[in-house]
Amino acid sequence: MAHPLITEFENAGQGQVFQYWDQLSGPEKKTLLRQAGEIDLAQISRLNHALLRADAGVDSRDYSDLNPAPYIAHPSNGGDPDAWKEATAMGEAALRAGRVAAFVVAGGQGTRLGFDKPKGFFPVTPIRQKSLFQVFAEKIKAAEVHYRSRLPWFIMTSPFNHADTMAFFHEHDFFGLSEERVRFFRQGRMPAVGFNGQILLSGKGRIAMNPDGHGGSLPALVRSGATRLMAENGIDLLSYFQVDNPLCKVIDPAFIGFHILGGADMSSKMIPKAYAEEKMGVFCLQSGKVVVIEYSDLPADLMHAKDDLGNLRFQSGSIAIHLLSLEFIEKMGAADPSSPGLPFHRAQKKIPALDADGNVCLPNSPNGVKYERFVFDALPFSKESVVLETRRASEFSPVKNRQGLDSPGTSAEAQMKEFASWLEGAGEIVAKTDNGVPLYPIEVSPLFGYDEATFLQKWKSLAKKPDLNQSLYLS
Ligand code: UTP
Repeated sequence: MAHPLITEFENAGQGQVFQYWDQLSGPEKKTLLRQAGEIDLAQISRLNHALLRADAGVDSRDYSDLNPAPYIAHPSNGGDPDAWKEATAMGEAALRAGRVAAFVVAGGQGTRLGFDKPKGFFPVTPIRQKSLFQVFAEKIKAAEVHYRSRLPWFIMTSPFNHADTMAFFHEHDFFGLSEERVRFFRQGRMPAVGFNGQILLSGKGRIAMNPDGHGGSLPALVRSGATRLMAENGIDLLSYFQVDNPLCKVIDPAFIGFHILGGADMSSKMIPKAYAEEKMGVFCLQSGKVVVIEYSDLPADLMHAKDDLGNLRFQSGSIAIHLLSLEFIEKMGAADPSSPGLPFHRAQKKIPALDADGNVCLPNSPNGVKYERFVFDALPFSKESVVLETRRASEFSPVKNRQGLDSPGTSAEAQMKEFASWLEGAGEIVAKTDNGVPLYPIEVSPLFGYDEATFLQKWKSLAKKPDLNQSLYLS
């Protein structure tokens, strides 16, 4: 008699998952059953129905009541310096009280970068080639010292990179952080499906699975016990960032302060878009709620609309930095049906999968879809939501692609430009090329200067200033 799971898959029209069953060894059969057991067939059927229709890519939402989301301006752009000071003091108090933990989502597959290890291992700094994980670890360590606080760090991995990620931290002695304050947990995964809705196989005894998107972080935080641990340790705020942006501040007291003062449960950082078609989600206000509209969904007339001053009307680009309150994560991530949950999106991808002859092939064009959830879809469920402006130069230069835009090259340049601006703030002269990149490589360890203010303090205290007309690493 067939295994009950096989019958279930056959009844759901997904019998192809077990088409090579008779050719599998005992352990292979076990693996396949374990993978199949994770899949909620009713959910896949619902998603196939809703997201695979011919018109599913067509955005049918009503944007008639869409307005730009209000935001708190940065002092360099007209923001009130006193309000920033007050927020910073409030954030520092929260940090000293131990209310905050750092949280990086590092479960993505990083396919565009084409790096065969987890993205957090990628060497990213201009001189020392420190990995992304090391950069964040040093920033957390520096923030601990600077704010006289203990900062736990939650790291979300995927089932595909979890073991490697943990091993990397052990190999590097947690980059000087206290091991018991670094917590790893896995996000969930979803099967990839072909355009006909059939679950794809990546081997004869293996389902093509993928991480369920950064929105999967909310249920994973609850499921893994991270939220329980937070509550037990008096932590009620998570500082959320992505693994690919080495400029991210990681811990920002002003942001924390504005979040608290605004009574918010999910807050976000924004930068003005550089040009209308820049590929960034945009913060908007819809039915009184802050939402992020993806660049591909924003109607062209709105994308190009200008205000009275000639600026883009919908200019607030999302850089995927958020603050999340514990209660909100618990509400959004709860497994019970009363939780609003986040919608799934479909992403058309080239998915390595078995062809009709049972051979694995990597197609040249998309052959199916991955179902993923996005964390910013939680925004409209928040009671209050603060959007805070930050400066692109000091906080956003992700490593997404191998070359060109948002690549290791552009990120190293952005880091050096930022370090150069700190030196210039200290009254130094930095030699530069015509496009403003320092002529001699510069790298500042977060342990020397965490931000411009901490850098200045340290720089001033140096008895002998280093020569700026050669490569400079400050640690
Ligand atoms: P991206 O959307 O850039 O995806 O992730 P990616 O998987 O890293 O890269 P590509 O698209 O395959 O090239 C943005 C952030 O969200 C995390 C990533 O690790 C990155 O920090 N993420 C993404 C997850 O943690 N889980 C996911 O399922 C997807």
